[in-house]
Amino acid sequence: MFVLWMAILASFIVFSAFVLYPGYLSPPTMQQDVEVDLNMSDKVFEIVKTSCFDCHLSNSKNNKAKKAMSFDRISHLAPMKQIAELNNICEEIKEGNMPPEKYLSNFPDRKLTDVQIKMVCDWVKAESQKFFK
Ligand code: HEC
Repeated sequence: MFVLWMAILASFIVFSAFVLYPGYLSPPTMQQDVEVDLNMSDKVFEIVKTSCFDCHLSNSKNNKAKKAMSFDRISHLAPMKQIAELNNICEEIKEGNMPPEKYLSNFPDRKLTDVQIKMVCDWVKAESQKFFK
């Protein structure tokens, strides 16, 4: 009987460890916890994932950034706001405001190249068009 109780107790402990710390099952990778349901090519996704997602997802630790814009929230906005937000993205990167200088001094390779800026802005145009079809 004692062995049975110990077995039940042990499985309860293991079970609650998984429930309380799901990280045991899958290591927490911030970028997988939220879904970005925007229609973008793998290439564009890779660019914004590398250079923007650290700050601009709704589970980011950067409160100011995620309030200003979260990629996973854009599709939940009203159409006019989505268009405005998308165009903001293109504007900010064209002007070289994003990613911020301070961030780039830590991760210089995350600075967008002219080609990448054009790819993101082309995506912005295409994505904004979806409301006019
Ligand atoms: C290190 C964190 C960080 C990264 C990386 C970053 N941003 Fe930002 N971003 C911010 C912060 C903080 C703000 C809000 C304050 C501000 O405007 O400076 C912001 C604001 C914005 C805004 C809103 C501007 C406005 O005036 O409404 C846009 C659009 C934006 N970022 C786009 C991007 C894009 C696109 C990338 C990737 C190429 C990017 N950001 C990368 C921190 C970041």
